[in-house]
Amino acid sequence: MKRLRLGLLGTGVAAEKLYLPAFDELRHRLDLVACANRTRKKAERYARIARVGRVVDSAEELFALPDLDAVLISLPIDAQPAYVLAALRAGKAVLSEKPVGPSVAAARRLVRAAARYTPPWLVGENFAFMSHAVKLAELVRQGRLGEVRLVDVRQMSFMDAENPYFHTGWRAQPGHVGGFVVDAGVHLAHVLRRCFGAPTVVKNLTASYDPALPPLDTALALLRFESGALGTWTSSFSTHYSGPMLRVFGERATAELFYDHLVVFDPKRREKRYDPRKSSFVAEFEHFADVVQNGRPLALSPADAVADLALVEAVARQLPMDLTKSRVRG
Ligand SMILES: NC(=O)c1ccc[n+]([C@@H]2O[C@H](COP(=O)([O-])OP(=O)(O)OC[C@H]3O[C@@H](n4cnc5c(N)ncnc54)[C@H](OP(=O)(O)O)[C@@H]3O)[C@@H](O)[C@H]2O)c1
Repeated sequence: MKRLRLGLLGTGVAAEKLYLPAFDELRHRLDLVACANRTRKKAERYARIARVGRVVDSAEELFALPDLDAVLISLPIDAQPAYVLAALRAGKAVLSEKPVGPSVAAARRLVRAAARYTPPWLVGENFAFMSHAVKLAELVRQGRLGEVRLVDVRQMSFMDAENPYFHTGWRAQPGHVGGFVVDAGVHLAHVLRRCFGAPTVVKNLTASYDPALPPLDTALALLRFESGALGTWTSSFSTHYSGPMLRVFGERATAELFYDHLVVFDPKRREKRYDPRKSSFVAEFEHFADVVQNGRPLALSPADAVADLALVEAVARQLPMDLTKSRVRG
């Protein structure tokens, strides 16, 4: 099979930590033709370590290359929409990073504008390609957990100078809604929607404990789903936690979803474990190549990605509610 001729725009942390191992596994499927980055030196370094054919000076130059089938866009969230449209306009298939836009309103505008172009556009929600998360949705759908009554989401990791994402300038001054809560939380929003559909009710509270993590680092929400199941959502980037990122409590079994596996417990605590068959980035890139080269339908439409964003944006919504200021009339 011919390899997909891919260009990369944005050679930052995600390109190095997440894509590079997948690119290495997919040499037979992907031809990394060229890359570009705002700071060219970083693109040159990346081209050396990722064995990318050449470095070009700008996005415009990258999108104009005739020997490219597709581009992977990995930029700050609020910078992405303009480049997605420019790449589609140039006739390139696009894989762009999650979330689909810096807000639901902006994402909807982007999806409307992108509909004018024919090349395929996949939003890179890698959790859509985690086979153990997909397995969880299948078990729920098949009723293997019994009636699901409670769901507990934990999007928690301590964000400080030890974490490479802490140092990216656009996260320190975000141009997208919800800071880390949305940037990271959109993954679990996808899994939740996949398992249960969008919640019909989201009631939230937010807090900002660490001023280095604007505009907020903490969000709690209560959820109700169409099925009647209730849920809690906890996002925190200023406390420590280790444990599952999602727990699903059914009348017959409980499931715990971790980044790298799924465990299902029956009422006697007998457990069954599911491990992913491959990295979610490998699966995502393979799928994208299949879409572009073989016309396979998108596993996740841009509208799906907007719905994921809408859910997590509701969790991160900052509504001032200070009851101490409300007057009690005697
Ligand atoms: N799927 C996942 O699990 C996952 C994980 C992490 C990140 N991501 C997504 O990947 C994307 C990139 O994140 P990252 O952590 O890699 O960020 P990053 O390290 O800051 O990389 C972003 C790149 O974009 C360039 N850039 C910054 N501002 C720009 C602008 N205004 N116009 C054009 N280029 C600009 C930067 O160039 P300079 O070198 O000049 O700064 C940098 O190389 C984000 O959309 C993020 O949500 C996804």
